Amino acid sequence: MDKQTVLILFGGKSSEHDVSTVSASSVIKNIPQDKYDIIKMGITKEGAWYRYNGDVELLPEDKWVEDTANLVPAFLSPDPTVGGIIEITDSGVKTTKIDAVFPVLHGKNGEDGTVQGLLQLAEIPYVGCDMTSSAACMDKAITNALADQAGIAQAKWLSYTEHEYRSNPQKALDECVEKLGYPIFVKPAKAGSSVGISKASNVHELADAFETAFANDSKVVLEETVTGAEVECAVLGNADPIAATPGEIAPCNEFYDYEAKYIAGTSGLFIPARISEDMLKKVQQQAIKAYKALGCSGLSRVDFFVNGEEILLNEINTIPGFTSISMYPKLFAHSGIEYSDLIDRLIKLAIEKKESEQ
Ligand SMILES: Nc1ncnc2c1ncn2[C@@H]1O[C@H](COP(=O)(O)OP(=O)(O)O)[C@@H](O)[C@H]1O
Ligand SMILES: [Mg+2]
Repeated sequence: MDKQTVLILFGGKSSEHDVSTVSASSVIKNIPQDKYDIIKMGITKEGAWYRYNGDVELLPEDKWVEDTANLVPAFLSPDPTVGGIIEITDSGVKTTKIDAVFPVLHGKNGEDGTVQGLLQLAEIPYVGCDMTSSAACMDKAITNALADQAGIAQAKWLSYTEHEYRSNPQKALDECVEKLGYPIFVKPAKAGSSVGISKASNVHELADAFETAFANDSKVVLEETVTGAEVECAVLGNADPIAATPGEIAPCNEFYDYEAKYIAGTSGLFIPARISEDMLKKVQQQAIKAYKALGCSGLSRVDFFVNGEEILLNEINTIPGFTSISMYPKLFAHSGIEYSDLIDRLIKLAIEKKESEQ
């Protein structure tokens, strides 16, 4: 069989840019090379697109951006008759067909349906959730509303646009305290990696937390603080998805903030999660229910809080951290699907999904 050409998209104009370059370098190093030819396409923090022909080791910490001899201005064409990328080379414009795209992009401008919309226009198969589901999972207010509608338990929550809040801050503050009670988690509706999230224990902190969240998005989500283990479930598949055995995060800080996720390196990770066999199964069922309710396909990591018999949905990450030591790949490795095989399956799922849509 001929090798297929897979485009790995990395970086992005997102607060999670640096996480993406690490995830992408892992994917590139582990993709089965007997089956796939790789094209690397980077998006800078400013949003500029380049084909990158240099060393994959230069992806983390954005060293690839300085490797200018190996950068070619290029972009994914929305035109299905092109079916791939257009490069602007010294000798003119060059087009290359692409069989599938793996957007290894986290957060805004990549995990949020924008790139997925472009790929839908281009009619190129791509790994992961479609435009609608990516956008719904990126926005915590929409995720929560759809989860409520599907009867999936979660923390009590409220949401305000910046316009609503500014028109009567006192009313919003009173409403939050009355409905949620302190401490309150305040999050930008669309962010990730805990950027812009704070926990408020009094009205001053709450007002500050609104400002911090608005600095990241024009809509915020507020939630009552729930207790319990942070349990994460990896789901894989299209119409008939499977869930790996859930894992657990034990944050080293008061909550799982950016520092705890990427800097301190002392958060605990347990596979399986430290809950009963019965609860592990229930989390898997709930994860698949949430995955379907949000219209996910390909992959997602569905995160919960588990307290005794109670399982509360926290959020769905449609492009979860994907280094070989990230939770999602580790969970499937524990359930018998190794990292390289996982990448292979994700690409096959992308192609199958495209074929089933025709
Ligand atoms: N309602 C809540 N109650 C208690 N802790 C929470 C709540 N919401 C979030 N957290 C804590 O904040 C972290 C980040 O919140 P999350 O909604 O997962 O945002 P992100 O998309 O940035 O990962 C969680 O992993 C958890 O530690
Ligand atoms: Mg999270």
